[in-house]
Amino acid sequence: MAEFTLPKNSKIKPGKTFSAADGATRKKTFRIYRWDPDAGENPRMDTYEVDLDKFGPMVLDAVIYIKNEIDSTLTFRRSCREGICGSCAMNIGGTNTLACTKAIEDFSGDISIYPLPHMPVVKDLVPDLTHFYAQYTSIKPWMQTQSPPPPDAERLQSKEERAKLDGLYECILCACCSTSCPSYWWNSDRYLGPAILLQAYRWIVDSRDEYTGERLDELEDPFRLYRCHTIMNCTNTCPKGLNPAKAIAEIKKLMVSRSF
Ligand code: SF4
Ligand code: SF4
Ligand code: FES
Repeated sequence: MAEFTLPKNSKIKPGKTFSAADGATRKKTFRIYRWDPDAGENPRMDTYEVDLDKFGPMVLDAVIYIKNEIDSTLTFRRSCREGICGSCAMNIGGTNTLACTKAIEDFSGDISIYPLPHMPVVKDLVPDLTHFYAQYTSIKPWMQTQSPPPPDAERLQSKEERAKLDGLYECILCACCSTSCPSYWWNSDRYLGPAILLQAYRWIVDSRDEYTGERLDELEDPFRLYRCHTIMNCTNTCPKGLNPAKAIAEIKKLMVSRSF
């Protein structure tokens, strides 16, 4: 049987432990992945015991509290705190999700937090999304037209045409889905992954876009589209309740229908 071992410098070691202040009544323990590229040390898991009475109900509230009150070296991304910007995506309790919309009370025991899986790590909970955004750019995520716009109006859609964008336009590009997809883990150099394919489909079905054929041509490739094996991790993990696997299936259907 094949045996896999991590290189010595990537093994996660036990880290520091911070206990809750005396008098804490509602204690909760967070175990958080730490790695500093400048320190030259292995990653470690630091343990923070905190008092839930000191901050709000979401996991991001706890992470912000830890940074502000216990350990200012902890590094993570966040912006909106409303589930809109996608920047606080992390692996929390084994699931990729948004720290700002994930309630602490959803977890009965200790909570472990890692950066999104299978991405290079910049520091601590910050993944390097450079390649992910380059893939997004590759699908030309803007409206492309050949005909001139109407002289005195916008390019209009019927209600039915507009409805086709529901379930697509809400994507916040948090990358939770792509980083949960085994096909993307192993082939992200060439497979676009569920988030980018959902975005590609968003433009393919937009009635105002006039480059549908060219967009499908770009995806007609054994790797860019067809590495999806309908494992469904993407749809199960999306914190916005979207269905990237369905969008991918719709693109595949269009590929088949245009070949007749
Ligand atoms: S489909 Fe969902 S999980 Fe994937 S990037 Fe968009 S919002 Fe995030
Ligand atoms: S359905 Fe496709 S894109 Fe989604 S997790 Fe599975 S292989 Fe990845
Ligand atoms: S901080 Fe913006 S989605 Fe969580």
